[in-house]
Amino acid sequence: MNKLIVVINILLMSGLLAYAIETPSLSLGKTLFESAELGTKGRSCNTCHPQGKGLNMVGDFNDTELKDIVNACLRDALGAKIISPDSQEMNALVGYVRKFQKN
Ligand code: HEC
Repeated sequence: MNKLIVVINILLMSGLLAYAIETPSLSLGKTLFESAELGTKGRSCNTCHPQGKGLNMVGDFNDTELKDIVNACLRDALGAKIISPDSQEMNALVGYVRKFQKN
């Protein structure tokens, strides 16, 4: 009986863990996308791309290309510093804009 409870607990915990690993990245992506604090121009990604506006070509780019574009928008459109392509923040932003991908 006790063993069963242990097994159920392990299953429950690993499920929660998988959920916890997946979710923060998307929620971090959303937070960053909507933050007007990233750059010096007082606007966010969402200012120009509300509801995915202007992101309809996201599916045409691979991750490397998308990261270059995100950095170009960070630098030029937001007046922010570019970020490492490998950073958690960049991966979160790319994951978030991929939500608007059509294909
Ligand atoms: C001042 C307006 C503006 C802001 C702010 C802005 N962008 Fe953009 N973004 C553009 C424009 C304009 C394009 C299209 C460029 C082109 O087609 O040459 C674009 C293109 C893109 C693309 C390529 C998708 C496609 O379909 O062409 C991505 C991805 C993107 N932006 C992400 C972001 C992210 C992430 C942020 C915040 C860090 C951001 N943008 C902030 C104006 C903006």
